[in-house]
Amino acid sequence: MRTIIRATGRFVPDRLITNQQLTQWMDTSEEWIEQRTGIQQRYWIPAAGGVGASDLALAASQTALQRAGWTAADIDLIIFATLSPDLFFPGSGCLLQHKLGLESTPALDIRQQCTGFLYGLETADAMIRSGVYQRILLVGAEVHSTGLDVTSRGRDVAVIFGDGAAAVCLEATSKDDAGVLASALHADGSLARSLMTEAPASSENPRIDEAMLAAGRHYPYMDGRNIFKTAVRRLPLVTREVLEKCGIGLAAVDLFIPHQANMRINQAFAKALNLPDSKVFHNIQRYGNTTAASIPLALDEALEMGIIGAGSTVIFIGLGAGVTWGAVAYRFPDEGIGSHRR
Ligand code: UT7
Repeated sequence: MRTIIRATGRFVPDRLITNQQLTQWMDTSEEWIEQRTGIQQRYWIPAAGGVGASDLALAASQTALQRAGWTAADIDLIIFATLSPDLFFPGSGCLLQHKLGLESTPALDIRQQCTGFLYGLETADAMIRSGVYQRILLVGAEVHSTGLDVTSRGRDVAVIFGDGAAAVCLEATSKDDAGVLASALHADGSLARSLMTEAPASSENPRIDEAMLAAGRHYPYMDGRNIFKTAVRRLPLVTREVLEKCGIGLAAVDLFIPHQANMRINQAFAKALNLPDSKVFHNIQRYGNTTAASIPLALDEALEMGIIGAGSTVIFIGLGAGVTWGAVAYRFPDEGIGSHRR
């Protein structure tokens, strides 16, 4: 028994934010952003707000469900990955469950940030292979834009992030030559404070106050250089680890689909493993860093572009806050998937 991706779907809001627009709000330049990150544009929810992570997730899920030929009632479990939940609690999975018109389907939220899709996929795979559930909707969705400091104080972080969502429908297959082949997940909590949003914080009483707001502790903080170096060191290692686990070589992989944090990280990853550029997928130019949505969003686009399809072997990889990092090896069944069947 293995887990296959039956279909994928993505959704981004339609407010296009170019690098040039960001220069109106903070001391930055189009050249700095593009040269340091590869990002040219990203999409944000309407400035007036009113759209949460579960709303973006709903749209992405509806596309995935329709392509899978499922109705919402076919879902046995929802796994929702986000660092920007609609509410402090309960999790966005419950909100998505209700928006899908479901009444008692279980919903699980995971808080693994940029590796949310990887942690979600391994969790779903374990549940499917053990027979607990047959059909799981895994979604990654983020609304970053309402939580960014778009003044010069927050420029190192604000220029990177985009809003978006992507969903995959996962189900059991009796095939043993396709599906999730292996996964390798890691965390190093000693670096937790290298990338974080501190407030509201349960360790503070009250959890948030005027002084914290004035200091900007409710905005994300990132020690960018440290995270960058950690990613460049760890991503090639975890890729080799997962390949070893499933007994395949680098050359057998058709496409590496990394988390889209910074194009330079992914270029360094390709160089470290001596991979041709064509084997590493990038779409950060168009979407920025969409955290938990980033890997499935890239997967959905790569399928749509026909870069991968029936029989392809792919590696999903990423590193992010926690820090957490990991890789999952996946092979598409020979008959292809959902509406992307080729
Ligand atoms: O997805 C979750 C995981 N996140 C990541 O993987 C992100 C990893 N880190 C990065 O992508 C990069 O570290 C950044 C893109 C965040 C920053 O790029 P960098 O090349 O590491 O720049 P830096 O932090 O070393 O800063 C270089 C200079 C500094 O100025 P000085 O001290 O040299 O005068 C910054 O103040 O660039 C300045 N700077 C900016 N300048 C213009 C920082 N942000 C900006 C900006 N526009 N937006």
